Amino acid sequence: MLIRIPASGECRESDVTPEAAYLSRRQLLRGAILSGAVVGLPSLAIASERYPGVTAEPAPTWFADKLASARWQAVVPDGEPVTPYADATSYNNFYEFGPNKGDPARHASALKVEPWTVLVDGDVERPGRYSLEDLCSEARLEERIYRLRCVEAWSMVIPWLGFPLADLVKRVQPHSAAKFIRFETAYRPEEMRGTRSGFALIDWPYVEGLRMDEAMHPLTLLAVGMYGRTLPNQNGAPLRLVVPWKYGFKSIKSIVRISFVRDQPATTWQSMAPEEYGFYANVNPKVSHPRWSQARERRLPGSLFNTNVQDTLLFNGYAEQVAGLYGSMDLGKDY
Ligand code: MTE
Repeated sequence: MLIRIPASGECRESDVTPEAAYLSRRQLLRGAILSGAVVGLPSLAIASERYPGVTAEPAPTWFADKLASARWQAVVPDGEPVTPYADATSYNNFYEFGPNKGDPARHASALKVEPWTVLVDGDVERPGRYSLEDLCSEARLEERIYRLRCVEAWSMVIPWLGFPLADLVKRVQPHSAAKFIRFETAYRPEEMRGTRSGFALIDWPYVEGLRMDEAMHPLTLLAVGMYGRTLPNQNGAPLRLVVPWKYGFKSIKSIVRISFVRDQPATTWQSMAPEEYGFYANVNPKVSHPRWSQARERRLPGSLFNTNVQDTLLFNGYAEQVAGLYGSMDLGKDY
């Protein structure tokens, strides 16, 4: 993004762990039993059943309970293979842990995700500091397999586990004055080494925002898991946003604050470089980034012989569902 100027071929194939390196399901379960990780066993079983070889951590009891009644594959893209777990968890953007794609996987384990609370405030009837468990208490988990298109022109297909943001919004009851939602990531310099670096240009904490109708759209997800397990830290544990028709930077990780506000919030990337990153950030092959085209994308993983470059779709392929949100807008200006 801004910290390093990305070339379109930024992902080195050596960054990609071959799928053969996965643990077998049997190894995984034996390891879990030996380590006494009984709390998360149901979720371990489900993760490895659905995604063979996925290394699931012991999950909190509430998560494991909800997993048992999860609705699997509620949304699936047409015939597109899911990105291998190893790629989705080793090639990340999470600047709080460093600017390089491998930094989050290397350093994000320092983030303490339990206990976790989220402050809900602003123009809302039921403000408060909610534990994650409480925040999710009325939710039924769903699996949504979405395309993720980064503004840097690479993409993946990720099976998220979560629930519609709209469900939470309805529960906390925003006032009619609230027109936007502002989200904030945890800012813990002692656990997030990237925030201690003088080289990072970001004004922490990382902030994102949505217009209320975007937040209420049924595709907008609050994710607590992926690949049948809890979120790995590098992917935004324990709670992140997923907005599949927007560039990945809108999908803010490790959320600690959700505020209902009247005015469009100042968001991290837009504040830093407004001519490069818009508030809306809708995926649009016709609106180039000033420094590179957005017409095509590299679907990860590629290989030496197949770079997997493909055309980028308007609204990341979700135009049918979301174009109506932007009917009167000039997408070239409100990028
Ligand atoms: N959230 C926070 N807090 N910090 C970040 O640096 N990076 C964003 C987004 N959410 C980022 C973030 C960007 S640029 C992308 S492309 C996605 O996370 C990447 O998500 P992934 O690492 O799970 O693929």
